[in-house]
Amino acid sequence: MAKVTSVMLISDDQGVENAVTLALAGKRRVKLTAENRSVSGLNGAAVRMAAEHDIIVFATDPGNKDDMNAIRALNAERSETSIFLALTDRDITLARARSLSDVGVDEVLPFPVTGDELGRQMDKWLQKVASTRSGGGKEGAVIAVSQARGGIGATTVAVNLADQLLIRKSRFRKEPANSVAIVDLDLQFGAVGDFLDVEPQEGLMQLATGDVMPDQMWVEQSLADTPTGLSVLSAPADFMPLDAINAKQVETLITALRQTHDFVVIDMPRALVDWIEPVVSMADEIQVVTDTTVPSIRSTRRLIDFYLADNPGLQIEVIVNREKKPYMLASHHKEAARVLERKFEHWLPDDPKAARNAVDFGKPLSEVSGRSELSKALTQLAKATVRRLPIAERQSV
Ligand SMILES: Nc1ncnc2c1ncn2[C@@H]1O[C@H](COP(=O)(O)OP(=O)(O)OP(=O)(O)O)[C@@H](O)[C@H]1O
Ligand SMILES: [Mg+2]
Repeated sequence: MAKVTSVMLISDDQGVENAVTLALAGKRRVKLTAENRSVSGLNGAAVRMAAEHDIIVFATDPGNKDDMNAIRALNAERSETSIFLALTDRDITLARARSLSDVGVDEVLPFPVTGDELGRQMDKWLQKVASTRSGGGKEGAVIAVSQARGGIGATTVAVNLADQLLIRKSRFRKEPANSVAIVDLDLQFGAVGDFLDVEPQEGLMQLATGDVMPDQMWVEQSLADTPTGLSVLSAPADFMPLDAINAKQVETLITALRQTHDFVVIDMPRALVDWIEPVVSMADEIQVVTDTTVPSIRSTRRLIDFYLADNPGLQIEVIVNREKKPYMLASHHKEAARVLERKFEHWLPDDPKAARNAVDFGKPLSEVSGRSELSKALTQLAKATVRRLPIAERQSV
């Protein structure tokens, strides 16, 4: 889940409070705190509290000396990244607007506002907060999960890897350490929504019907949150052709997601459509889920060759599903590893009961069968993934 943006409103005017509440209604991950006094009525503690919010909105009359002093005091305490929005009388002079900007106000908005102007302004500033947070090149890691054959367990891996990447310190600690998004790009047969009990979403369908670009704003509005804190973009309910979305849209989507999340897990479609290319080139890692049968290993080999053809440096991990890690590799394992020219490092045991339980409840395995061998193996997979990816540098496992 992306972080919550906190907005503080300082005003003793009910009309202002109603307008700001309305402007923020329906915006996701925004928390509004209202301080029912005028700016000049703020005491020292309230000033310090205000400093902890991302956006501070206040109604003010720039002709009022007390107000101006109070804004100066707020400005002295503020964090570098916070934003000050001042609501003032409609016909404020330019000189007065400038005096507000001199004391640190980022934007002066006339009040009352017309239509949804306040909502639009809020969108602009909420986006600013999001991009400031994602600044400094700290982009999230993208992990694409693909499958050697249908039904091998790719969605199970994608969903539970995403869940385990949240890294909750304990089941009871609510706030996850990482923000994680899972995207179902298996547009036609996607089941991520079912696995997480999230309704099908029309977001991806929207991309097919218009010239929509899934930028940060679009992503904010299109993601659903699970109770455990995953951001989910599930596949649409209705059938859509695989080529209804294009490579540019997929690239924009991944760019937006990695700006707001530490990890972006993508459940890939089986077909190699043209928009797979941006997924592969933007991925920090691809996890191919397979079993060790000859057809699956051959298909894994073909996939690896396909991915590496244009991205020779790409990190590819092979995940063996429905097989417990053997004490000693059998000859067919050795032969498979030779064909793939890599070691098998990730094994997920066959555990139909736990897997079924999770699907039936529409919850990750950690929630319904946390003690199962399968869930524990997925925890190990997530830990190994965090260690491998660059983001590991700023996260503790
Ligand atoms: N390790 C496992 N042990 C037992 N059952 C599993 C395991 N992994 C997955 N399954 C079960 O196998 C079935 C298929 O899994 P899943 O949907 O994850 O596969 P998939 O590769 O995404 O399939 P699709 O081709 O439909 O996208 C599900 O019923 C799932 O619960
Ligand atoms: Mg699947």
